[in-house]
Amino acid sequence: MAPISLATPHAGSLAASLAQSLRIAERRAADGATAVFRTDVVFGLSQPQKAVPPKYFYDETGSRLFDLICRLPEYYPTRCELEILKTRAAEIGALAGPRASLVEFGSGSSIKVRLLLDAMDKPAAYVPIDISGPHMRAAVARLAEAYPGVAMVPVEADFTQAVRLPPLGEGRRVGFFPGSTIGNFTPQAATAFLAHVGDVLGPGSALVIGFDLAKDHAVLEAAYDDRHGITAAFNLNLLARINREVGADFEPGGFRHRAFFNADESRIEMHLESVRKQEVCIGRHHFAFARGETIHTENSYKFSAAAVLAMVRHAGWRQRVLWTDPKGWFAVAALERDGEGR
Ligand SMILES: C[S@@+](CC[C@H](N)C(=O)[O-])C[C@H]1O[C@@H](n2cnc3c(N)ncnc32)[C@H](O)[C@@H]1O
Repeated sequence: MAPISLATPHAGSLAASLAQSLRIAERRAADGATAVFRTDVVFGLSQPQKAVPPKYFYDETGSRLFDLICRLPEYYPTRCELEILKTRAAEIGALAGPRASLVEFGSGSSIKVRLLLDAMDKPAAYVPIDISGPHMRAAVARLAEAYPGVAMVPVEADFTQAVRLPPLGEGRRVGFFPGSTIGNFTPQAATAFLAHVGDVLGPGSALVIGFDLAKDHAVLEAAYDDRHGITAAFNLNLLARINREVGADFEPGGFRHRAFFNADESRIEMHLESVRKQEVCIGRHHFAFARGETIHTENSYKFSAAAVLAMVRHAGWRQRVLWTDPKGWFAVAALERDGEGR
């Protein structure tokens, strides 16, 4: 039989059927993700304190709104963390060593990682892991142009689930978890997550991670309730997403953004507050809201240096150093895991 060349009708139909299989697989994965989203929303809205997990903020609109939040004058965490990373880039580069692979958890627009890649000695690979797939892939395409020598391996996944890293080179594996996204977990879940990150990265790895520190309540509350209403739009976009993707009937204007510091828990809480008595339906599920009742959408814990140290130790990491910005508002920790590195 003649070998199949790319020009034969065989190859054409083979390619078409492969593309169709791929589309079917992608559709099934998307249907599966939507079913999980629906289950999480129905479960969350059935609790005495209604809640939706913050990972659902990040559809394409949510990811774009988060980028705008990072540029707000009130939103100090991005500026403070960038300042620390710029100042400490050379030390982070030395910690990583030659030909290291950088694995970023919740990479967003992959802006901060540039400071690390610039400081590293011939970085081998960059593996961003993010739940917001199209936004991540667009960011990685921009990064690939600037760093042609670095293998870009984006992974669209929920980083709390089992994540299998692609085969990486011989250099050290360095995790990067900026933005104080760790603060979205309760302390217990944060410790478990850090242990999970250690398992994903393996023995001998390092982790560079950002923590937002406790500070004046007015500064904290302004950062999560800016005067231009961008954070409000980010929070309310969750309801638009739930309407679109799981067929709910939240009325635009039926809820408003609320953010406040809960001193007992040392966390900012974001909620969506019902402005009137109302009912919301998802298929056969009906959810009654009293006026003033809220959906809890996010926690953002604020840490002390002592709390960071205790948590990372519990999770099996050794804290090599904790850097802060001059105001002491934000901290970046460099952590190491014992064992033979790869
Ligand atoms: C607070 S933003 C931080 C973005 C960026 N790292 C920074 O420092 O500006 C959180 C990022 O994590 C992603 N994310 C949130 N929950 C996630 C999850 N469970 N799995 C994967 N990515 C997640 C979001 O899509 C978003 O890009």
